[in-house]
Amino acid sequence: MTLLNVRTNTIPSYEIHIGAGVMKKVGELLRSMTKAGRVCILSDDNVYPIYGKTVTEALEAQNFAVTSYVIPHGEHSKNLETYGKFQNFLAEEQLTRADWLLALGGGVVGDLCGFAAATYLRGVPYVQVPTSLLAMVDSSVGGKTAVDLPAGKNLCGAFYPPSLVLCDTDALSTLTDEFFADGMAEVIKYGMIFDKELLDILDREGKNFDREAIVARSIAHKIRTVEADEFDHGERQLLNFGHTPAHGIEQLSGYTIPHGHAVASGMAIMTRAAEAAGLCEAGCAEKLSAILEKFDLPDDTEFPVSGIASALLNDKKRKGGILTWVMPRKYGFSDLYPMAVGECEAFLAGGRRK
Ligand code: GLY
Repeated sequence: MTLLNVRTNTIPSYEIHIGAGVMKKVGELLRSMTKAGRVCILSDDNVYPIYGKTVTEALEAQNFAVTSYVIPHGEHSKNLETYGKFQNFLAEEQLTRADWLLALGGGVVGDLCGFAAATYLRGVPYVQVPTSLLAMVDSSVGGKTAVDLPAGKNLCGAFYPPSLVLCDTDALSTLTDEFFADGMAEVIKYGMIFDKELLDILDREGKNFDREAIVARSIAHKIRTVEADEFDHGERQLLNFGHTPAHGIEQLSGYTIPHGHAVASGMAIMTRAAEAAGLCEAGCAEKLSAILEKFDLPDDTEFPVSGIASALLNDKKRKGGILTWVMPRKYGFSDLYPMAVGECEAFLAGGRRK
């Protein structure tokens, strides 16, 4: 088991437990943190039937009274309507500030539960129990919580860190190949921003890599970045490599393209565009495409650059007429690069395959 710790400005630090079977320790760990009587689990209809009982029993064994709220799986649930219904459920159940929420699922459940926790009674504590690779290595850590608006992804949210995160690597074995690949996009992202050695390990070991070691290595990058810039004013924006075009791709697809797959396409388009503009070492895009292919991820999109570029206008990294890109400079290193919004479409067009 690997134990990591995140220092935040918002709450005292919180622990992240990573390893096989850690989900079963949720009752024990939570009891060591609180005398609370009640926990409400938020989960989805894919995950709850697999892990709901395990988590409920672990909590009940420590004398927590457990209620559950199960939403339909998928990005379409991450909206104000589901959020409102969940808030009403918490109120009808008379959950108090002394009680806890627990997110059991992937990124959608984690983001929605976090935002509900941030706002119900102006804030109740919550636990993240991510069951997807993507949620383990990215969204469960760092306290970004949100729901989508019709105008774009994650436009309504808050910074609100969890009080405990449990990444049970056994859960990775129940993921479909598509969901596993989806999370790999975020792992490869850390490699492209900070860590060439991580890319080399993935290249060497392929899908047989050591789950706990790679999840922990990815989360360590996330922690370092979040601790340096919890509220996303600077360095944390690096974690959005590929995400600006990805949000456009997801939106244009009506959220039928999963987040990680869109991020893979976005990273590849950005890297080719950066090479074409002379901003990135030659050969980087080819190496990135090879590693994306190894993990069954796409390196382009069918959507026109004009559509992707218009989605940029709602990007949270746009300030007035300037959009800050995460620019790949070489294989394993990226930095922040501001660009006039008017130049972004032509820049991105350089990233299309000829
Ligand atoms: N997923 C990017 C971040 O947490 O900042």
